[in-house]
Amino acid sequence: MPLREAICAWHKRELKSSYEPKECIVNVGGKHAIFNVASVLVQAGDEVLIPAPYWVSFPDIIKYTGATPVYVQTNVEDGFAVRAEAIEKAITPKTRLLILNSPSNPTGGVTPPGEYERILAVCKKHNVWLMGDECYSHFTYEPNKPYSIASAAGAKENVIIIGSVSKTFAMTGWRIGYTLGPAELVSAVVKLQSQSTSNPTSIAQHAALAAMTGTMETVPVMLAEYARRRKRIVDGLNAIPGVKCQQPGGAFYAFPDVSAHLSGPHAMAKDTTELATLLLERARVALVGGDAFGAPGYLRISYATSLERIEEGLRRLDKFFSRAEAAA
Ligand SMILES: Cc1ncc(COP(=O)(O)O)c(C=O)c1O
Repeated sequence: MPLREAICAWHKRELKSSYEPKECIVNVGGKHAIFNVASVLVQAGDEVLIPAPYWVSFPDIIKYTGATPVYVQTNVEDGFAVRAEAIEKAITPKTRLLILNSPSNPTGGVTPPGEYERILAVCKKHNVWLMGDECYSHFTYEPNKPYSIASAAGAKENVIIIGSVSKTFAMTGWRIGYTLGPAELVSAVVKLQSQSTSNPTSIAQHAALAAMTGTMETVPVMLAEYARRRKRIVDGLNAIPGVKCQQPGGAFYAFPDVSAHLSGPHAMAKDTTELATLLLERARVALVGGDAFGAPGYLRISYATSLERIEEGLRRLDKFFSRAEAAA
């Protein structure tokens, strides 16, 4: 109970919502929260809208429930924002849920608040649940600000919020996430969770309580550091032949387009999965191919690491891709 109270108070203070503890459940990380909500909400015959590129776990969780993931494309020219018009076009009588992750993993795309509210209106019109995955809420770069759709008027009956202490408080290994939503939905998740995992470890709950009731002064410090790394990595990637990278609006991933290296007579690999393996084996750089996120032609590179490592990574990437360019 103290943690649920603290989460509701924190969310109200930071993101302007108005939840009570009966509308909150603490889960074993944000992933568990999404899994449990999806499990009580959708089943075979239902469709779930997932903007693409997407976080890898969304489609797999939805497939596990028996429901069908339906992808809604976002694009680089639009900063990978999710658009209400595209969502409405994808809705069918079977659509039951939309999962909207802003800022997005893997693209860093931020859906602007006004657009998010239009998406909520579309969801309400078609009686579709809107799940807002806010795991990166506090990693938004100027001019973007932390935002929750739960702060919009009339949001509560259609909206489910997923949050986590993994990113905001750098507590990934503690495994604490939460769900905020209508009491009836939360009580269904309570039922499922009490017969499966039970509550998260009490020690971890106490740590999360300390985080959520403590000062938030570490967050701007982390964000300023991420902003520095973002600039360096984006500039560095754009200086590499055949690599194009946009500034992500949030999160801590660079998402460069490397499609120039995947086509033509001098293609380095058949797809980004193969390219990521080559980069690991030959250049000793660990990153993820865009194919895993429904984004062929892209790579996802985390900059949640030191500037020195980023510099070294960029040197290795430059060497790897420049050699390809020279061979072309
Ligand atoms: C988009 C997104 N949602 C949810 C999570 C879940 O995080 P956790 O289970 O660590 O709270 C992650 C973790 O990478 C993520 O990227």
